[in-house]
Amino acid sequence: MIKRAVVRGVGHYLPERVVENAEFEASLDTTDEWIRTRTGIERRHFAAEGETTSQLAVKAAQAALADAGLAATDIDAIVVATSTPDFTFPSVATMVQAGLGSTTGFAYDVQAVCAGFVFALANANGLILSGQATRVLVIGAETFSRIMDWTDRGTCVLFGDGAGALVLEAAEGSGTAGDRGILSVDLHSDGRYREILYVDGGVSSNGQAGHLRMQGNAVFKHAVQKLAETAHTALDKAGLDGGAVDWIVPHQANLRIITATAERMNVPMERVVVTVQDHGNTSAASIPLALSVGTARGQIKQGDVVVTEAIGGGLAWGSVVLRW
Ligand code: COA
Repeated sequence: MIKRAVVRGVGHYLPERVVENAEFEASLDTTDEWIRTRTGIERRHFAAEGETTSQLAVKAAQAALADAGLAATDIDAIVVATSTPDFTFPSVATMVQAGLGSTTGFAYDVQAVCAGFVFALANANGLILSGQATRVLVIGAETFSRIMDWTDRGTCVLFGDGAGALVLEAAEGSGTAGDRGILSVDLHSDGRYREILYVDGGVSSNGQAGHLRMQGNAVFKHAVQKLAETAHTALDKAGLDGGAVDWIVPHQANLRIITATAERMNVPMERVVVTVQDHGNTSAASIPLALSVGTARGQIKQGDVVVTEAIGGGLAWGSVVLRW
């Protein structure tokens, strides 16, 4: 028998304000038609003034805890993936801990931009397999609307705000791919590509939050190639092939990237959870949001093989394969 990190609950929260593509037509040289056909995005949610990443994260965490039938005090560790924290410090995770009314366990953030949730999931898996925690809340939460340059039509139409959360719990497994829980992890980064996707501000450089800068085309090419590769490797590590995949739950950046990756993996689009049309790119929140929406839609069911994959600034990318 071996230990596995099994999903016990899932939940999400989206800010109330929905912004349709057409709203950008008033201030930018863009059209709903261009945004839809180039990205698949139709609308996104933006946080209200004063609404912060930790507030979104607390609501997503509460939904995941309710789904798991657990209280915050049942949780040993909270890991939050975010690149848009409320403050330089303390971590969003400790603010979530306080927001949930818990004083037990430990909490911290991880930062791998749009790949953040995959890295956080891998990290939480490590906490469980090493015996440091029995139940971990893993959250992806972002307010990317705060780092947009609203004059840059190549980026500001792409991103949205939101949060998603999973409760992982230690369970006994047989060590085969038939086990529920996280089956394999594959992570990568290559810091040489900093210039194609970055924020032009920060604590130690200019003391500002900065704005997101991106060479969309270059990121697109890396994404299509690297995402299929890492998903293949993770499936190999789990002892599975593309035919075993019930659901790809990709990072939701661009429908064309999602489609091209699924094609390269030989998985039909009927087995891909797509939420980008309604959420835009919510960075580290996009995968847990899609897991939560995919479960609520009745797509993802207990026992299904789920492949998550994501790439983001760094570059950092990776894949986690799990049986739901
Ligand atoms: N509305 C209208 N035109 C736009 C536009 C917008 N919102 N944004 C860019 N354009 C224009 C460009 O200015 C360019 O015009 P030009 O030919 O006159 O210079 C033209 O569209 C083509 O630009 P290009 O960047 O080549 O388009 P694209 O097909 O690559 O699509 C992205 C742009 C950003 C949608 C696409 O590259 C992409 O999604 N990349 C990946 C981004 C990503 O996922 N990043 C996050 C990873 S976590």
